[in-house]
Amino acid sequence: MYTAYPMRYDSMKYNRCGKSGLMLPAISLGLWHNFGNVDDYATMKSIIFHAFDKGITHFDLANNYGPPAGEAEKNFGKILNEGLDNYRDEIIISTKAGYYMWPGPYGEWGSRKYLIASLDQSLKRMGLDYVDIFYSHRPDPDTPMEETMMALDSIVRSGKALYVGISSYDAEQTRQALHILKQLGTPCLIHQPKYSMFVRWVEDKNNATHKSLLDVLGEHGVGCIPFSPLAQGLLTNKYLNGIPADSRVGRGLSNGAITQENISPEVIDKIKELNEMAVKRGQSLAQMAIAWLMKDSRVTSVLIGASSVKQLDDNLAAINNLEFSEKELLHIEQILEK
Ligand SMILES: NC(=O)c1ccc[n+]([C@@H]2O[C@H](COP(=O)([O-])OP(=O)(O)OC[C@H]3O[C@@H](n4cnc5c(N)ncnc54)[C@H](OP(=O)(O)O)[C@@H]3O)[C@@H](O)[C@H]2O)c1
Repeated sequence: MYTAYPMRYDSMKYNRCGKSGLMLPAISLGLWHNFGNVDDYATMKSIIFHAFDKGITHFDLANNYGPPAGEAEKNFGKILNEGLDNYRDEIIISTKAGYYMWPGPYGEWGSRKYLIASLDQSLKRMGLDYVDIFYSHRPDPDTPMEETMMALDSIVRSGKALYVGISSYDAEQTRQALHILKQLGTPCLIHQPKYSMFVRWVEDKNNATHKSLLDVLGEHGVGCIPFSPLAQGLLTNKYLNGIPADSRVGRGLSNGAITQENISPEVIDKIKELNEMAVKRGQSLAQMAIAWLMKDSRVTSVLIGASSVKQLDDNLAAINNLEFSEKELLHIEQILEK
């Protein structure tokens, strides 16, 4: 039976999530990859326990994480049951619905029917009465935004989630969603966008409003938790000398994972230069990539993935060096623009 490390709150930094009452760890752990039936249960358990021992209080899931879809929630439920559930009140558990889960017209996107049924299934798989954060995983072009937001509102009112969030909504969709949720009386807690040195759409200004997603979130006091901050492992030293067989690319996973095509010679050149710069700063490239996201005060928490405890420790050490000089930031831009 797991017993948590008594000093677990000594090294982590906690940030307020937007203007809410909730604090999140600067680094959160996601279970998209490495928690399916193709992965080793003992390893996933050690990653989760180690994360909590190091102050990671926030674990991010979704209905479709696996493989197969649902398996990550099942494995997380099993790990909770091995003693972590004694700390339930110290843990933030997130899940989502939006992508394909089951056949027929009610198994994906943003209808009230799908979102509520999916959350019920997620709770069952994890053995929970409630999750802390429930997300609409992606905007649905065919369901009225009001319906999706009303479903989120009623999920909070039913007690099945404490807070709600949205993921991958663009700046304008986000503005609309925040407005509807506010009117309903359930404020949006957080937005989860893809954001890293290599993927920067959240910084782009909308043509009509001249506001970026980050601007909208900052103005409305909504938290931001970037996903794939390491570009799925590209922004680490892992692919500098070829493709390791046990890497996400080397394993040839199909569920949205990067593939060999993402590792062009141009990308490798950039990674090499970024890596040299990280070494000069006295940190690993993974740490520099995480710290680079944290320089923006609108970023609440950086949502990493890890396939080993060693990677997790490497990433956690990012918070030991978060400062960038203007010269360093400029140099990063120059490398990225090449
Ligand atoms: N909302 C959405 O639509 C959405 C979409 C995608 C992800 N997410 C969330 O974001 C989380 C993180 O996404 P992600 O896994 O793509 O994040 P990531 O942190 O960019 O990539 C994680 C992968 O990078 C490698 N890695 C991590 N730390 C490393 C280190 N220190 N040194 C070398 N390699 C390292 C590992 O790959 P190897 O397996 O190769 O070792 C690891 O599995 C997900 O688990 C999920 O919770 C959300």
